[in-house]
Amino acid sequence: MKVLVIGGGGREHALCWAIRRSARASEVVCAPGNGGIAQGSRCVQVDQKDIDDLLRVVAAEKPDLTVVGPELPLSLGLVDAMHGRGLKVFGPTRDAATLETSKSYAKRFMQRHTIPTPNYAVCESRQEAQDALAMFRLPVVIKADGLAAGKGVLICETKEQADQAIADLFSGQLLGEPEKTLVIEEHLTGEELSFLVLSDGKHAVPLVPAQDHKRIGEGDTGPNTGGMGVYSTDNMLDPAMRTWILERVAQKTIDGMAAEETPFVGVLYCGLMMTATGPQVLEFNARFGDPETQAILVRMESDLVEALEACVEGRLSDTEFRWKPGASACVVAASQGYPGSYESGKTISGLEEAARVPGVEVFHAGTTFDGESYRTAGGRVLGVTATGANLEEALQSVYQAMGRISFEGMVFRKDIGWRAVGKK
Ligand code: AMP
Ligand code: GLY
Repeated sequence: MKVLVIGGGGREHALCWAIRRSARASEVVCAPGNGGIAQGSRCVQVDQKDIDDLLRVVAAEKPDLTVVGPELPLSLGLVDAMHGRGLKVFGPTRDAATLETSKSYAKRFMQRHTIPTPNYAVCESRQEAQDALAMFRLPVVIKADGLAAGKGVLICETKEQADQAIADLFSGQLLGEPEKTLVIEEHLTGEELSFLVLSDGKHAVPLVPAQDHKRIGEGDTGPNTGGMGVYSTDNMLDPAMRTWILERVAQKTIDGMAAEETPFVGVLYCGLMMTATGPQVLEFNARFGDPETQAILVRMESDLVEALEACVEGRLSDTEFRWKPGASACVVAASQGYPGSYESGKTISGLEEAARVPGVEVFHAGTTFDGESYRTAGGRVLGVTATGANLEEALQSVYQAMGRISFEGMVFRKDIGWRAVGKK
């Protein structure tokens, strides 16, 4: 069958890589793709912000199955429009994707369904936010309601910072567009965990867990990014806790969405904080994580296309997927300046040498290929990913491969997995 993947980041490179390994897929096309994806799959131009352009590509390619990577096409209603045309597509409808696209909707949903999440207030004016702020201890977390590409969450240590955050969000100073709604949330501490499940609208089947490193700086310092690196191991989540999260968070969310007549078909990404008193949901995403997907899919032994088709066709059973035991890690190489402004067009060298390290896959995120060389074309440029018998081994392979790659201004974190290394 012919599979079309929408998106052009590291996540989509990993998806195309896994789909190409499936016995079910005879052709993989990616729109718009990137320099690395283009080496194994045909890439076609598309403006991901334009629903008509996305539908034009779908009509031209006539895929048997479409997989939507990023949140933007979901929020534009790509899945709804494809359903209307009788086409098979993996991803939630616009209404189901509201779990990601509106934090106030997600918080109220969790409250209705008693899913553990930090205390919060939804505020629709500056005055309301100022009044609500008085009920929270510092530090406090202030979140824009809508999609903000990782820039809409502010952790405020002082009252002055919180006042400023409220003012900047409502005025449009922070995100360009003035926010109409924001969420004020209790600040929690603990380790974060990305718990992703596939769902056919009824059943939730988990992928292996992963931990992202969102801050740009080592030791988890500096501004938030889209994610600078991820690891996944067998023992990062004990079986009882895994069952608890699956039943009390993921399955409960899928059941709640079905009961509210917005069944969720696709990947539900539960962004958790593992606090001293148990897991709490910080956010939902309605899509695969980036770079979680890179570290998760290199461990997947089951056929990804079969799993995605089972979701779309409403026949995902509660059987578990098969996984490579041990560990995996993905470290992101970014352009100097990211998550702020950065330069592009730098020549990347050493990619072939890096890929020769056993167990390593180099996934491209922001790259182009000009026929001769790869060049940088984004903030996050590459996701060097490896599997290993344990985390130390996976990390050793990743950093050995990373040492062979260079481009002007290349930045990467040298401490991915630091909270876990040395732990049993
Ligand atoms: P979100 O987009 O809601 O996941 O927030 C982005 C990041 O901000 C999370 O991955 C956390 O690192 C941090 N964060 C969000 N909410 C909280 C919270 N209530 N307490 C502590 N950190 C938070
Ligand atoms: N890695 C975080 C995300 O995909 O949102």
